[in-house]
Parts: sequence; C-alpha cells; structure tokens
Amino acid sequence: MSLSVEFTNFLDGLWKDVNEPTDSEIDAIDHSYYFMAQVNGKPALNYVAEIYDNITGDESSAVFSHRNQMMFPRIIDSGAWVCGQLEAGKNILDLGSNTAHNLLWWAKKYPSSTFTGIEISEKSLEVANLWKDRLSVENLKLLSGNMLNKHSEVADEKLDIIINCFALETIPDLEIVNWKLPNWIIESATENAKIIACLTVPYWGRLETIIDAWRSQGFALSFLDLFPIDTGAGHPYFIMERQGEDIDIDIVEFMEMRTSVLFG
Ligand SMILES: C[S@@+](CC[C@H](N)C(=O)[O-])C[C@H]1O[C@@H](n2cnc3c(N)ncnc32)[C@H](O)[C@@H]1O
Repeated sequence: MSLSVEFTNFLDGLWKDVNEPTDSEIDAIDHSYYFMAQVNGKPALNYVAEIYDNITGDESSAVFSHRNQMMFPRIIDSGAWVCGQLEAGKNILDLGSNTAHNLLWWAKKYPSSTFTGIEISEKSLEVANLWKDRLSVENLKLLSGNMLNKHSEVADEKLDIIINCFALETIPDLEIVNWKLPNWIIESATENAKIIACLTVPYWGRLETIIDAWRSQGFALSFLDLFPIDTGAGHPYFIMERQGEDIDIDIVEFMEMRTSVLFG
C-alpha cells in the first residue's frame, strides 16, 4: 500500500464519526478564508492564531477545513512525502503543526522517534490533543506558542530533523530576515541535522531566497523537486542537511524546467 493511501486511510479512520460544523462555524471559516485570500494565504503574525482558531479550532471545523477539495490532496501528498523521508530513533521538530494531523500519523509510523510540534493557534492545538489522546500517541509532545520564540522544552534536546510544511515561509513578518530559521532552532540542531520542507511560494525567486537563507545558516541543499498534486497545483519539496555536498543547481531555472515538464 502506498504511503498516500495509508495516510488517507488513517485520517478517514480518525475523522469518521466527526459531525459537520454548524452554520455559524461555517460562516467563521468562510470569513477566515476570505481574509486569507486577501493576504495570499499569509496573514501577519498577530492575526494567525485567530484565523486558525476559526478554520481548525474545533473538531468539526478542522475536519471540514482539512477535507476541503483544495486542502485534502495537499495534506495527503506532503504528509506522505515527508513520512518517507523520516527515520527511526530520531528527535524530530515540526513547525506550525496545526491539528497535528500529520504528526500523529508520523509518530505512529516511527514509534522509536520522538516528535514535537509547535502551534500558535491554541484551539487547533486542543483538537490536536484530543486526537492524540484518542489515538494514545505517546512519542509526541505538542507545544503552544510562537515558533519564533525559544521553547526550552525542546531547545535543550538535540534536534535531528526539523520539518517545515507550509508554515515558516507563510509568516510575512519574516521577510526582513529572508525567512531564516529562528536561531534557537539552529542552536538546538545536531551536527547531522536535516530540514525537510514543503513550501508554498508566490514565485521561484522566493524559493531561492529561502534556500539561500538556510544555506547561510549552515545547511546544504541535498534534494529539491516540484511535486504536482491532484488539484493541479505544485509545491516545492526539498531537503537540506548540515553534512554533505550542496547540489548547487540554479533554483529558479530548475523549477521553471520542472514546471514546464509537469504542467506544460
Ligand atoms: C498552512 S498551516 C500548515 C499546517 C501543517 N503543517 C500542514 O502541513 O498541514 C500553517 C500552520 O502554522 C501555524 N503557524 C503560523 N505561524 C506560526 C508561528 N509563528 N508559530 C507557530 N505556529 C504558526 C498556523 O497557525 C497553522 O496552523
């Protein structure tokens, strides 16, 4: 069974008895999506928690939003790809975990690894904790707060893998530092640490800016590709590692070539 099918079955099982949201909850979700559309899906830091409290802040709203026809294929595709890159026996940090829909599955798949998720929407985190308890997932710690601030619960541990799926690069306040990773994360990373990332970017030059910023923090690009999903969209997925050679390609040229091969 492919990882995508396995992940779909996992979420279908977790969500099977969840009720539809009420009309007022759907209004709040629509309102938040409208706001998100006005800011290209990238709300400033002081709005993020409220937006995601509305979109995924209780079980019904979360399942409704995740099941959205644009969102579900993206969750499955990126979650399955990341899962295939993870390793047993590692200490793994996920940035912007939302309801931990990915993390719960990854933690089940890698029981000898320990996972930590950080999420700024407290209500989404409540849903995450509800599902964590329901599934009795023990190798997962969920932290509430801003990923830009040091979290001593995880900073004192050595991180082997840092996952960023559609989170850090969505923070417009970070443009001033080219979306560099927060220093506390860099300081907590092991000598062999790697970053696994799935991004949403408005143009390929932005992807190059972000990869260059992370290169300047001591990580070499070891893998990059454009992954098409069922909705007709495509997202760059990549891996950066502290050890090893950088593949040293022209990011913009490569992504333009992959766009033309995949989408014509
Ligand atoms: C687009 S969702 C991605 C969720 C999940 N990583 C996935 O791939 O499905 C972005 C998540 O990052 C969270 N987030 C955004 N900025 C954050 C910050 N500064 N600190 C912690 N979480 C943040 C949002 O609340 C939201 O839940």
